[in-house]
Amino acid sequence: MPTLAEKKSTRGPARTGRPAPELIFGDLWVFDPAPESADPKLKPRYDLFIGGQFVAPKSGKYFASINPANEQKLAEIALAGREDVDAAYAAAERAFSTTWGRLPGRERAKYLFRIARLLQDRAREFAVAETLDGGKPIKESRDFDVPMAAAHFFYHAGWADKLDYVAPGRRVAPLGVVGQVIPWNFPLLMLAWKIAPALAMGNTVVLKPAETTSITCLKLAEILQDAGLPPGTVNFVTGAGETGAAVMGHPTAAKVAFTGSTEVGKIIMRSLAGTEKKMTMELGGKAANIVFDDAPIDQAVEGIVNGIFFNQGHVCCAGSRLLVHEPVADRVLAKLKNRLRVLRVGDPMDKNTDIGAINSKEQLGKIAALVESGVQEGAEIFQPPCRLPTKGYYFRPTIFSGVSMSHRIAREEIFGPVLSILTFRTVEEAIEKANNTAYGLSAGVWTDKGSRILKMSVELKAGVVWANTYNKFDPASPFGGYKESGFGREGGRQGLLDYCKLV
Ligand code: NAI
Ligand code: MG
Repeated sequence: MPTLAEKKSTRGPARTGRPAPELIFGDLWVFDPAPESADPKLKPRYDLFIGGQFVAPKSGKYFASINPANEQKLAEIALAGREDVDAAYAAAERAFSTTWGRLPGRERAKYLFRIARLLQDRAREFAVAETLDGGKPIKESRDFDVPMAAAHFFYHAGWADKLDYVAPGRRVAPLGVVGQVIPWNFPLLMLAWKIAPALAMGNTVVLKPAETTSITCLKLAEILQDAGLPPGTVNFVTGAGETGAAVMGHPTAAKVAFTGSTEVGKIIMRSLAGTEKKMTMELGGKAANIVFDDAPIDQAVEGIVNGIFFNQGHVCCAGSRLLVHEPVADRVLAKLKNRLRVLRVGDPMDKNTDIGAINSKEQLGKIAALVESGVQEGAEIFQPPCRLPTKGYYFRPTIFSGVSMSHRIAREEIFGPVLSILTFRTVEEAIEKANNTAYGLSAGVWTDKGSRILKMSVELKAGVVWANTYNKFDPASPFGGYKESGFGREGGRQGLLDYCKLV
């Protein structure tokens, strides 16, 4: 029997000054499976979407899209070659000069509203398809990706007849045909971010989704058909990097927009240097979540977890570095470890799952290699004991403490559920460490002081600064980066400015 004094000594920091006890919940909290059951209505094979029709690729070639949660094949996807990309641009150019480009804004708005409503009608089906193809937890695709995608269509529908207010005092005109390439972390949402402002402004589109996550894009093509969108207004070509390069480099494109790795962004920028094309780039990130000693610690811990373990860390604005004020560093670390122990890693289709599957085998390998470098370079690793499914691509949530600025895990984008923790003593040191990165997409500040929030949001070189929250989005709020995180904004009035010319 423990003595009373021994019992008291386990009560945690408030009474004893010791770090919080490390609770082990383990198997106490096994839930019954709660699989989402909606039918994703997948076709065995998806063709290209060009000129309002599904058409076979000229090469006759297809590749498999798999479910990263169990490595099973979901569907075959057409591989677009240069001729197919040419056909897509020809269709988009025709639509721009004969139909879509001539419609008044109030008519374009009706189509955008219709697309938004049709997407809402099929929300569960789209959420399931998104989770099967990409590996993210169903609660993410159901509660975030699909509703936010619909919200972007609604928001831009509202702008289409008010474009005189985009650049007050000036008139705006569409650019023509725009080429767009998107990544695999938010397949449907990135699609909405790209096409909704382009269409509201009167442009037509050729878009390529990522090769591991093409399915919701091609399902959205069905919605575009049902909405009666004039053929050729939006065209989808599928394939990998070579197809992407053909979309970005096409002479017909008046503007290109890319979201993906900084490495590929640089290749595209180099290849387009000297052309007249307008460009926007949304690239990588290495965001700092900064926690001061006066912060609401429990909310901050929840925000940190949401900021990096949400969506397996497959988020360009993920809070992948935690900068914590020294007086609270031990407490925050102990609480984070406890929180990690009860995160549920596993089947993305289960409604209880917090961390689903890593998007691809390649991405899993990249995460594992960077984590290994963290161990080699001497940071202290923590991973909770959790059972991972035997099939599929999974990675345990990981925390590194004792990280220094020179470690690779403090500098490189990991794009996985891995948090690197550094500490600071003064506001100046926090700002310096947060800004000491090649990237500048986002940051988070946790403090009770309003004046400090204002100071930090001015000093931090990041496109978005969240205060006492993290990963909050709204279509009206522009999103984009500084430095190697790219340029241009998506969302809001600022986002529309990137899809027009001033006349
Ligand atoms: P990636 O940048 O290669 O892929 C993004 C998109 O670009 C895909 O649609 C891909 O097919 C296309 N693409 C590839 N090469 C191209 C080229 N030469 N020209 C035009 N398009 C091209 O990203 P990847 O290889 O899938 O992931 C690697 C790393 O990139 C990740 O570990 C992560 O660090 C970062 N990444 C960042 C994203 C972000 O939103 N900031 C999104 C995806 C990846
Ligand atoms: Mg897939």
